[in-house]
Amino acid sequence: MSQDLQIIRIFRVALMALALGAASPTLSQGVEQSDLGSEMEAIEKALTPYVLPDTGPFRADQIVIKNNEFISLWATSPHADARSESFTHWDEEGEVNVACAACHSGAGFRDFHGLDGSEPGVQGPIATGGVVDCATCHNPGLAQVTEVKMPSGVMHPVSPIEAACMTCHSGRQAGSAVAQATAGVDDDTVDSELSFINPHYRLAGAIWLGSVAKGGYEYPGKSYSGRFFHARPIETCASCHDPHTLRVNENVCSTCHENGEVDAIRLARVSYDGSGDLSKGIRADLTANAALLMTYIEAYSLEIAGTKLLYQDRYPYFFADANQDGRADEKDGKAVTYKSWTPRLLRAAYNWKFVTADPGAFVHNPHYAFEILYDSIEDLAGPIGEDMADIGIYR
Ligand code: HEC
Ligand code: HEC
Ligand code: HEC
Ligand code: HEC
Ligand code: HEC
Repeated sequence: MSQDLQIIRIFRVALMALALGAASPTLSQGVEQSDLGSEMEAIEKALTPYVLPDTGPFRADQIVIKNNEFISLWATSPHADARSESFTHWDEEGEVNVACAACHSGAGFRDFHGLDGSEPGVQGPIATGGVVDCATCHNPGLAQVTEVKMPSGVMHPVSPIEAACMTCHSGRQAGSAVAQATAGVDDDTVDSELSFINPHYRLAGAIWLGSVAKGGYEYPGKSYSGRFFHARPIETCASCHDPHTLRVNENVCSTCHENGEVDAIRLARVSYDGSGDLSKGIRADLTANAALLMTYIEAYSLEIAGTKLLYQDRYPYFFADANQDGRADEKDGKAVTYKSWTPRLLRAAYNWKFVTADPGAFVHNPHYAFEILYDSIEDLAGPIGEDMADIGIYR
């Protein structure tokens, strides 16, 4: 080694020692001399300027950028859709309401679970503009989140892979809220104190856990199915959903189901909707029974509650249609919110919304979904004077 080079080397090592001492005083204190040596080597390596290699690849399309593939998969998914209602709802207020931030912003989610070093629970304020970003799910702290609180208050154990999904996709209300609101009121008496209770949206996790999470309103004296375990190796949300595109991988289904097409899958030899058609997918039975429940909700509202109820896919969803023209009544240019709730009507409407809020209910937990719909129809059929045997659906 020439003298010049040696001097440069000594100079660099001295510089590094200085840098190390300044940047990380704790490191040089408790560390053994040999560790310090290897630490120095690592730092020396890190400080060595990067020199372009003599040969390629230099073409941008040939340079592998870590995570590139996953970023582009994620970027097309609803989780990344910064313009959706789910992420823009609070824009006018300027910050995301703390009651909403845990699920409507990656930063809010981290705040909620204390992954940002804060106490658990959203402390806020949470800036608008956030989406379900990479660090929502890829966060080392998430491994410590071993259970998630359901809206019913039930703490449910979760694996690290499903901890994130279960936090955000389990809805915001439980059947117990409906039971509480209607307690002490006669089943068929209109009570102006009652208003619709919204279970919230795309609550796959609550449906999946069934009676364990008690997301639906469960009628007294009935028994309900718990978590739908499906079949191994289907274990978590990501067994079926690509966690980045969020799309369902039908190739996974066809390893077990003869016809892997989601809408065609059926194992049940029971015709839940009473049609006797066992060739269609189970999804169609569930859709049919949900539609049937809505006809009973409408019939009951007219015959027993005295004002026809109308559902529309816009907040607050249930409107008055007193003149029965199939359109929401209007007052001062605004649609009239439904106000003629009886306990029986509220329970059924909640359950209908609960099941239909999850477009995947037929696969997340068909048993629980069928039970909830059946019992709601049965509860309304009585006062209308109809017999379940004539209706012909199955639980
Ligand atoms: C426990 C998680 C969670 C909390 C807390 C939460 N949301 Fe949501 N919310 C969701 C999920 C999941 C969706 C996704 C629905 C979808 O895919 O369109 C959603 C969707 C929405 C939508 C879009 C509905 C639509 O029709 O597309 C609005 C608006 C909304 N939430 C408002 C709120 C408000 C307001 C709060 C607070 C008062 C809140 N959310 C709290 C999970 C939550
Ligand atoms: C909604 C949650 C979620 C979000 C958001 C998310 N990921 Fe993932 N990611 C996962 C899950 C779950 C896995 C699978 C882990 C496993 O199977 O062990 C995964 C796997 C990966 C892997 C490893 C893939 C492999 O096959 O080994 C990479 C790399 C990755 N993600 C990068 C990203 C990047 C970059 C982003 C943001 C652009 C992102 N992820 C956003 C949940 C998420
Ligand atoms: C921080 C909260 C959060 C987490 C964590 C989260 N999601 Fe979501 N998810 C949302 C919100 C909010 C939306 C609605 C996004 C939109 O409307 O653009 C959504 C949308 C979806 C959709 C699409 C629904 C549609 O409208 O097509 C699927 C499927 C989904 N999430 C599955 C998952 C899975 C699986 C996981 C775990 C790997 C997960 N999510 C983790 C909040 C979350
Ligand atoms: C056995 C496979 C499977 C598992 C496990 C599973 N899902 Fe699904 N999920 C589906 C299918 C199939 C659909 C319906 C997709 C469609 O509409 O075609 C769906 C739909 C959804 C939707 C609504 C998407 C939309 O288009 O509106 C959300 C949100 C969702 N799942 C989230 C989850 C979450 C969160 C978990 C874990 C708690 C989970 N899923 C577990 C198969 C599965
Ligand atoms: C490892 C095998 C396996 C895989 C993979 C699998 N399933 Fe299943 N699936 C089953 C079994 C077994 C049942 C019956 C479980 C029960 O009822 O307890 C079932 C039940 C169902 C049901 C209810 C059918 C009915 O008539 O009750 C639906 C819907 C369903 N699966 C959809 C899917 C979808 C969609 C996928 C792929 C995303 C999938 N499955 C992947 C084994 C599997």
